[in-house]
Amino acid sequence: MQDKLAIDGGEPIRKDLLRMAKVNYGYEELSQILEVFKDEVFCSVDPRASKVKDFENLFAEYIGSKYALAFSSGTTAQHASLLAAGIGEGDEVIVPPLTFVSTAYTVILTGAKPVFVDVDDNSITLDPSKIQNAITNKTKAIVPVHWFGYPADMDNIMKIAKENELVVIEDCAHGFGSKYKGRNVGTIGNMSCWSLQETKTITTAGDGGMLITDDENLALLAESVRDHGKDKGAMSDSNLPYNIIREGNNYRLSEIHAAFGIAQLRKVEGFLEKRKIFRDYLDGEIVKIENVTIPKMNEYIEHGNSNYPIRIKEENMRVNISEISLALNAEGINCIDRIDEYPPDHTLFREHSGPVNTPVAEKIKRELLLLPLHPGLTFDDLRDIIKAVDKVAKIYST
Ligand SMILES: Cc1ncc(COP(=O)(O)O)c(C=O)c1O
Repeated sequence: MQDKLAIDGGEPIRKDLLRMAKVNYGYEELSQILEVFKDEVFCSVDPRASKVKDFENLFAEYIGSKYALAFSSGTTAQHASLLAAGIGEGDEVIVPPLTFVSTAYTVILTGAKPVFVDVDDNSITLDPSKIQNAITNKTKAIVPVHWFGYPADMDNIMKIAKENELVVIEDCAHGFGSKYKGRNVGTIGNMSCWSLQETKTITTAGDGGMLITDDENLALLAESVRDHGKDKGAMSDSNLPYNIIREGNNYRLSEIHAAFGIAQLRKVEGFLEKRKIFRDYLDGEIVKIENVTIPKMNEYIEHGNSNYPIRIKEENMRVNISEISLALNAEGINCIDRIDEYPPDHTLFREHSGPVNTPVAEKIKRELLLLPLHPGLTFDDLRDIIKAVDKVAKIYST
């Protein structure tokens, strides 16, 4: 055990930086993309285009939904889902404060107000017992976030939503492989939005997203929003091919990105298997380190291991989580805290949502750290992660 941190001039655990996330790709992705070049069809609106359609069909089949719509990002899918749900000026949408900023600012983009409701200390996701008090006659939807792959308590959230006639849009940016009572997350609410950005379990090479639903009407509305607000399919009240009937945008995914996504989705079981093996190893070792814990998993959930969050007991540390994060990076372990991303701390949300009372999320924000977890790791890498966390936690403990 070395007694000097690398950040203070000591020997680092490793010389190169072990990356947080890494895209795992190979021949299959390249060969899919080559097909696009060969056919010279790059945009999904081209009647000859097939990759986006194929990707959507594969995705719907894999997750178990009737409709899947590919988007240019998880954020654009989120915005379209809210518009499809009819959210707009004067409405309120319940979101947890532990999420990426887009979950909350897409609500603002519709003209509605994000209302932050606290999370549960164990599941680190929306606490259903706190939702009812936040519901007003303006509330239109709840957006549970399966934060870092920990499924939200969907039974209780759906019960509240039903009693209050609210739409539920699951944020599945980290939801790949996560299950709630045996069901894939994303298949329980009215809609769900997925991020396929490059740090996620599967990616469309850079950015990408997916919206899924079993509701034909919502699917048609979201499809229309994705494509400039054009009149679509069964909703059509006109035979004009280019009739703009609602606010929309260009939120489409390109064929090349869909092609990459197809190859990734075909390999996802292998990715998930590796992630699970690595997670089990880390779980077994992390618990041996004093002052470090992992969020508790209820017996009825399965974690897809999109991320590996740990909590460091702030009351037993001499420094804050950002300093711990810097020290781990200096040891060669790329990790991140979420202090800067916490939505309620941002000017925009303070202006729109007002003061927020979410003490549980505040504490988790100050304790949470994401460690590397991806299929490209080796057991040597995992041992380095453990060594570095152990070293930093020991040296910084009071
Ligand atoms: C919880 C959550 N929701 C939504 C998003 C937005 O997804 P994207 O980056 O694909 O726009 C992210 C992105 O990381 C996220 O972490």
